[in-house]
Amino acid sequence: MNVNNNVNLKPFHTFGIDVPCDVLVEASSIDDLISVYRHPDWQDLPKLILGKGSNVLFTEPFHGVIVINQLLGKSISADGEDIYLKVSGGEDWPNLVEWALTQGIPGLENLALIPGCAGSAPIQNIGAYGVEFKDICEYVEYLDLESLDIVRLSTQECQFGYRDSIFKHDLLGKAIITSIGLKLSSQWKPTLNYGPLNTEKELLTSPQLVFDLVCDIRRSKLPDPNVTGNAGSFFKNPVITHENYRQLQALYPDLNGYKADGGVKIAAGWLIDRCGLKGYQIGGAQVHPQQALVIVNVDNATSNDVLDLAWFIKHAVQDKYGVELEHEVRFFNDKQETRLENIFSERF
Ligand code: FAD
Ligand code: EPU
Repeated sequence: MNVNNNVNLKPFHTFGIDVPCDVLVEASSIDDLISVYRHPDWQDLPKLILGKGSNVLFTEPFHGVIVINQLLGKSISADGEDIYLKVSGGEDWPNLVEWALTQGIPGLENLALIPGCAGSAPIQNIGAYGVEFKDICEYVEYLDLESLDIVRLSTQECQFGYRDSIFKHDLLGKAIITSIGLKLSSQWKPTLNYGPLNTEKELLTSPQLVFDLVCDIRRSKLPDPNVTGNAGSFFKNPVITHENYRQLQALYPDLNGYKADGGVKIAAGWLIDRCGLKGYQIGGAQVHPQQALVIVNVDNATSNDVLDLAWFIKHAVQDKYGVELEHEVRFFNDKQETRLENIFSERF
């Protein structure tokens, strides 16, 4: 276990903003995690587990212990056509997808190039190009932070939804995901219904070709966090009622909607784009000129620049379409998780 005090979090989150934290621990085993939670000097300090920091915004210096998940290891077993992978929480997700392909294991290719750790994938049920983590998940194991025991949840018990799971609700702050179990099939069952994949359907005759196309699309649309700081989609795609969708469609015929639990899902990127906000900048934070759903750190942005821009976007969309955007990126203040609305209600 590696421990450092007064650390700049810039290399530990993909927004690339200078934010200090009091203590940073790199944990490479379950025993390391347990030691952090038993450490007498840290009993009363706030604690936060991080993977690659690709879905977080630190809104203030963090006065507590940040724990970086570096639990490594993976194993394969098979039963007939079914292939089972057990992957430790700190494994890199994009590397895992590539490794599975080299082992001749299909099923992860639609989820290529999503930054982050394997152990973070269940938290918001990562999804892209028609596949979500829940579709390939067999179980999730976590360290229960009260008992310090390892608990296994089945896929159903994880209560997965769109960018959602039990880890954002009942188990929020109570669990550290230590490993995931994936169930894949040696017989390739492609998922090619998502727009750009569907158009090329006839040509996509192998998992490798799907992987290559997904990587090409992502590289053309999404900014690389190693070059320009960002945390992917800043907001979730909102789900609105059928009635609300009909009203908006009458006004904006090119607005597309997709059936979702509880109504119709519409593209937040489209809404922001049609507010004319592509390229709009506050301080060093900018609405990405190619993908309006992404906020990028183009010029030494501060957390406040990002917050001000997010607040501006939220209000522009609310005023024009009457649709409320909810941020997907997780916000942390000096000691705990917070939300955009809370930050601004305290300011005014
Ligand atoms: P972090 O950002 O480190 O953590 C995210 C949250 O999970 C925090 O609240 C943290 O405390 C908590 N957490 C982390 N690890 C654990 C653990 N082991 N146990 C309990 N809690 C934990 N997401 C998608 O779904 N689809 C996409 O297509 C997609 N594209 C992206 C593209 C870019 C360029 C970027 C920057 C991000 C994108 N994302 C996407 C978001 C991000 O990749 C995912 O949310 C990813 O799963 C985050 O992993 P992480 O390890 O970086 O998590
Ligand atoms: N659009 C615009 N202007 C924009 C951006 C998008 O008009 O500036 C339109 C597109 O033309 C398209 C629609 O909005 O008709 C949807 O765009 P896209 O296919 O790029 O997907 P998205 O809704 O912006 C979602 C996920 C991504 C995921 C992709 C692919 C959310 C919040 N985002 O983005 O996930 O990679 O679909 O499946 O659900 C993330 O969560 O961080 C993330 C990047």
